[in-house]
Amino acid sequence: MAAASGVGVVGLTVAARPSSSKLPRPCSRVPVRMSVSLDEKKKAFTLQKSEEAFNAAKELMPGGVNSPVRAFKSVGGQPIVMDSVKGSCMWDIDGNEYIDYVGSWGPAIIGHADDEVLAALAETMKKGTSFGAPCLLENVLAEMVVSAVPCIEMVRFVNSGTEACMGVLRLARAFTRREKIIKFEGCYHGHADPFLVKAGSGVATLGLPDSPGVPRAATIDTLTAPFNNISAVEELFETHKGEIAGIILEPVVGNSGYIAPKPGFLEAMRKITKDNDALLIFDEVMTGFRLSYGGAQEYFGVIPDLTTLGKIIGGGLPVGAYGGRRDIVEMVAPAGPMYQAGTLSGNPLAMTAGIHTLKRLKEPGSYEYLDKVTDELVRGIVDAGKKAGHAICGGYIRGMFGFFFTEGPVYNFSDAKKSDTEKFARFYQGMLREGVYFAPSQFEAGFTSLAHSPEDIKKTVAAAEKVFQQI
Ligand SMILES: Cc1ncc(COP(=O)(O)O)c(C=O)c1O
Repeated sequence: MAAASGVGVVGLTVAARPSSSKLPRPCSRVPVRMSVSLDEKKKAFTLQKSEEAFNAAKELMPGGVNSPVRAFKSVGGQPIVMDSVKGSCMWDIDGNEYIDYVGSWGPAIIGHADDEVLAALAETMKKGTSFGAPCLLENVLAEMVVSAVPCIEMVRFVNSGTEACMGVLRLARAFTRREKIIKFEGCYHGHADPFLVKAGSGVATLGLPDSPGVPRAATIDTLTAPFNNISAVEELFETHKGEIAGIILEPVVGNSGYIAPKPGFLEAMRKITKDNDALLIFDEVMTGFRLSYGGAQEYFGVIPDLTTLGKIIGGGLPVGAYGGRRDIVEMVAPAGPMYQAGTLSGNPLAMTAGIHTLKRLKEPGSYEYLDKVTDELVRGIVDAGKKAGHAICGGYIRGMFGFFFTEGPVYNFSDAKKSDTEKFARFYQGMLREGVYFAPSQFEAGFTSLAHSPEDIKKTVAAAEKVFQQI
């Protein structure tokens, strides 16, 4: 188990990196690339087809997209319509190639369209796409999740991270017979009503304080505190004695940009919840299987009562899960009285992609490799930014990273909002033209994968050096 050192990496602000004796393993699955170099590509860079497709999409779907952050609202320009993905790369419908640091917002940790995952999916598909009845593959993935994630003794599969967070909240309330929940400013737990209070991600990006349509009654029991602020949480427990069901948090925040917990913060959350007979819930939809095979809880050695998962455990297909202590999870129907259900939950395709993604991740050296490439990437970008005279800070853990255009340090959402988002937008557009695709918002973490080669990182840092001179 890796303990959080809390030691900042030189030139970075909030990275906490465990020591490891294992050497990084070179990636053996570097994707087959189009033979266009970055410079050649720049000459050919046009987004004409993308623009036409997006203009058509705007007439058909709200904002032309099916999830808000994709719309590029905070970085300007139009979203790029993608055609295909492989390994660390994406290609748009105009034929431009990008090194991708979004990874479908997290799932693509072994690289896009991995050959083994695709082959396994093809085999599973021969038997059908959905049974609406138990299938053996559910047992296999459940067994893998239970043996990997320290707090999970029993798990329920759902279809998205949002569903997982909705389910876990109902479960925490059912188990404790209390209704109040603490969440942190800038943490995103999906788009269910009770969580749309000071949520990060797209809500932050679009500057919406809350969403219309969320009834006051749905959020009245949602209490909020700044991330990394122990005394604010203590005060909430003091004010609402005996009323708080639990604390839900992203153990490493990815939805306000990348924000690591201060040393001792997660431990304090564990203690406060225990002392108050409340539950500690780690939302590991993003960090699960990304910070280590056992997620953030294994990485930091702090074990919550309940956990949500998503993204990686579906290997690129729609999935979510919640689980934890057996005595709590056995309250879920039909074992217990807390109702929650799903037509496509545990479907064989999502289970298959999840199983083969986890198998690949479990191979020795995976997390050391992520550490190595992410270190080179973030160090390279931050150093290049500083050399060019910009205020910039950044950090990473394993395959999750971020940087802000502010001196830092960034410990919470208010700190993150000090970032120069206009400069980020200029940087973003410059990098795009150089063939590098970051999340189109300052308030989203970035992701590396086993398919990112040292060459990808070198190209990205070289592109950043160039763009930092221009913005
Ligand atoms: C930490 C966290 N929780 C929940 C969710 C919601 O997951 P989904 O988009 O699959 O509904 C997300 C999505 O990014 C997330 O990052």
